[in-house]
Amino acid sequence: MDIVKYPDPVLRRGGKPVEAFDASLADTAAKMIEAMYRFGGVGLAAPQVGLELALLVLNPSGDPDKKAEELVMLNPKVLSRKTLEWGEEGCLSFPGIYGDVERHAKISVRYDDLQGEEQVIQAEGFLARVILHEMDHIEGVLFVDRLSPVDRLRVKSRLLEMERAYKAPA
Ligand code: CO
Repeated sequence: MDIVKYPDPVLRRGGKPVEAFDASLADTAAKMIEAMYRFGGVGLAAPQVGLELALLVLNPSGDPDKKAEELVMLNPKVLSRKTLEWGEEGCLSFPGIYGDVERHAKISVRYDDLQGEEQVIQAEGFLARVILHEMDHIEGVLFVDRLSPVDRLRVKSRLLEMERAYKAPA
């Protein structure tokens, strides 16, 4: 499983609701977790592997030995949000590009787990940031869309470079 880079249009298509909680879904999630670790990330959303699904995986530690911190979320919806905070983000679809994004630091999110059971998580700080970043991917929103004006200007030439280097799949 490989990771789709900006400006591949699949990143703008977002993800559709997941309805079949079957073995193939569990297999896809496992492969995404493996790819997330392999590329040194803390989160990955299905559009980043070319799949239009409301599916995301994360581990805020980025440490494959800390399985207890892994989360697989299907069909996530924010129930409540408060306290905006700025923090630095990167994204596996934008290698080497980092910048400050303002996000809610205290959130409550409902989602389905791999068994199709509804779950609710309260998340704060970095975990909340990772969840919201990955949920954006499911809406086709990218962290560069939310950069501070200063960082937007700072990464502009890097983004143009990626756009020039991009070759649409034949
Ligand atoms: Co990302």
